[in-house]
Amino acid sequence: MIKISTQKQIQQLSETINYHSHRYYVLDDPEIPDSEYDKLFRQLEALEAEALEAQHPEWVSPDSPTQRVGGEVLKSFQAVTHQIPMLSLSNAFSTEEIEDFSRRIDDLLDHDVFKIAAEPKLDGLAISLRYEHGILIQAATRGDGQSGEDVTQNVRTIHAVPLKLSGSDYPRILEVRGEIFMPKKGFAALNRSQINKAEKTFANPRNAAAGSLRQLDSKITASRPLDMFCYSLGFIDGEDPHKPLKNTHYEIFQQLAEWGLPVCPEVKLLDDWHACIEYYDSILLHRSELPYEIDGVVYKVDNIQQQKKAGFISRAPRWAIAHKFPAEEALTTLLNIDVQVGRTGALTPVARLAPVFVGGVTVTNATLHNQDEIDRKNVRIGDTVIVRRAGDVIPEVVTSVLSKRPDNTRAYKMPDHCPICGSLAERNNDEAKSRCTGGLYCSAQRKEAIKHFASRKAMDIDGLGDKLVEQFVDAEIIHDIADLFLLSKAQISSMERMGEKSADNLIKAIEISKQTSLAKFIYALGIREVGESTALALANAYKELAAIKRADIEDLQEVSDVGPIVAHNVKTFFSQPHNIEVLDKLLASGINWPAIHTREAKQQPLAGKTIVLTGSLSQMNRNDAKARLIELGAKVSASVSKNTSILIAGEKAGSKLKKANDLGIQVMNENEMLNLFQST
Ligand code: IVH
Repeated sequence: MIKISTQKQIQQLSETINYHSHRYYVLDDPEIPDSEYDKLFRQLEALEAEALEAQHPEWVSPDSPTQRVGGEVLKSFQAVTHQIPMLSLSNAFSTEEIEDFSRRIDDLLDHDVFKIAAEPKLDGLAISLRYEHGILIQAATRGDGQSGEDVTQNVRTIHAVPLKLSGSDYPRILEVRGEIFMPKKGFAALNRSQINKAEKTFANPRNAAAGSLRQLDSKITASRPLDMFCYSLGFIDGEDPHKPLKNTHYEIFQQLAEWGLPVCPEVKLLDDWHACIEYYDSILLHRSELPYEIDGVVYKVDNIQQQKKAGFISRAPRWAIAHKFPAEEALTTLLNIDVQVGRTGALTPVARLAPVFVGGVTVTNATLHNQDEIDRKNVRIGDTVIVRRAGDVIPEVVTSVLSKRPDNTRAYKMPDHCPICGSLAERNNDEAKSRCTGGLYCSAQRKEAIKHFASRKAMDIDGLGDKLVEQFVDAEIIHDIADLFLLSKAQISSMERMGEKSADNLIKAIEISKQTSLAKFIYALGIREVGESTALALANAYKELAAIKRADIEDLQEVSDVGPIVAHNVKTFFSQPHNIEVLDKLLASGINWPAIHTREAKQQPLAGKTIVLTGSLSQMNRNDAKARLIELGAKVSASVSKNTSILIAGEKAGSKLKKANDLGIQVMNENEMLNLFQST
């Protein structure tokens, strides 16, 4: 009696755990907290231990969720011949090439109507999974397309890959192909832990995924955060006669999802090439928000009959093409290293590079972050290095390429004095960067403080560019931010490339900038760690500058967004006599802002609501929208979760909108937001 019930319990519990695991790893939408999942898992382990003790190892099924932990260490991987070769894709790098492709397809399909399935091109490595009677029995790498390596033990450790398919209407043999990849967050965590263990870091998520999958010890693979999306079928045998496989690629995707296989949520069915280019632009725009790396998008003729009609060329289908994004990484030579002094005195080593085209622009400078990073990446002047420029992020040197290192490279050591003012550079124990101790004596720090003060999100002084600020400081016309308001027309027009007209314009812009808001003014002061949203929180909490000046550290920490470090920085800033002197000078120049009225709780219609803004707004500046939402009592957050109350989605909203829809969160468009603002 007891034995039967244990076996049954094991089965039921496995199913429950598989269900929750699928929700967590594949749908990204867990139903139960992690602690509850862990509890179920431990119960199953205990029951299985009982089964083994009772001499019933057969009750512990190989597809039990406990069997993902990795197995024996292999000596080598076995070769696997693919029953159907694994193909590659032709590439296109421009809209013109996509137009050529579309003309070829039109000809191949005798000008019939067709739809196109568009999906991201995942940057990982291809894999073929073989399910027999719904059970995963083999996973093989692509290899040369004809034969690859058997990495079944390793793939079994990837939670997104079902060990057993859901439902019962799958073919007797089902081969599914897709991409194994490492999500960005997992990659960053893995590299952090590699650094802590003094082990080699990975240059990018693709290398990390490949390195993790090709481990002879599957326990190592099990410890790596790998994920997978499926994108096509391989060999199929014994289809369910009542439910034959689908006729279109898009339907196959839906079918794969029904069987519990992971598919990319960004897949779209499109009507024409124009829509494809829009899809490309929109995915490119939202690339940095996706949780995984992609290197382009793939367009596939959707109808399987039409795919057959178009056929193949050597190793790639004629009915599909990869539309690649500009490469985000490139090789170049590190010519020299200079040191840049930031607004707060932080010294940053900057790599001067032989010009290289990367991420869509020509890059000649890239950050090296700090001395520890230079050492860790083993970078020497003269090295060939990998440069990365992802989206709008500052380009960085990822690593040096040792196999290309010439004989005459030079090691680099950060200076122990500021290269600009000669003051001592100090490094606190808990900081990665050393800092110039010159404060506002250092002209570099002064220049940066003034540039920050004048910048768009701060005082927004139109026409006061970086070069002009540098000239003013070098000519000793401006010593601090308040001097900006004392500039005369003659002083301005004596600067390089400044005439009467531009001097007049600048004077006007400086005058206009005096009408600001308390939040912008606080932000403009450049207090360490006080960014836009902290400045806004301080302004809303205290309403007046004098109140912020008076506040003590405990008080400051009551403000949302303000922790002990920020509170300390604010307090320190307002206790320094030279800062107070500059503040007085600024206020004397006529800077002012509208009074902030305290809103009664009942006037805060968004109190208790968490709001996320995504996409681009066309009628209102994003920061102003954010400020208004906060004023109405909302908490503005950067990412969508089940705690989000409303998502405000502007144009070209991407993954956040999708997630909000999936989670059933209220979505507003820009007009609805503006109506809300008007009605309050
Ligand atoms: S389809 C029959 N779809 O790109 C076509 N491939 O350059 C077979 N890849 O080896 C591939 N994302 O590793 C396809 N959405 C996607 C993809 C994708 C990434 C990789 C795959 C393939 C390589 C071809």
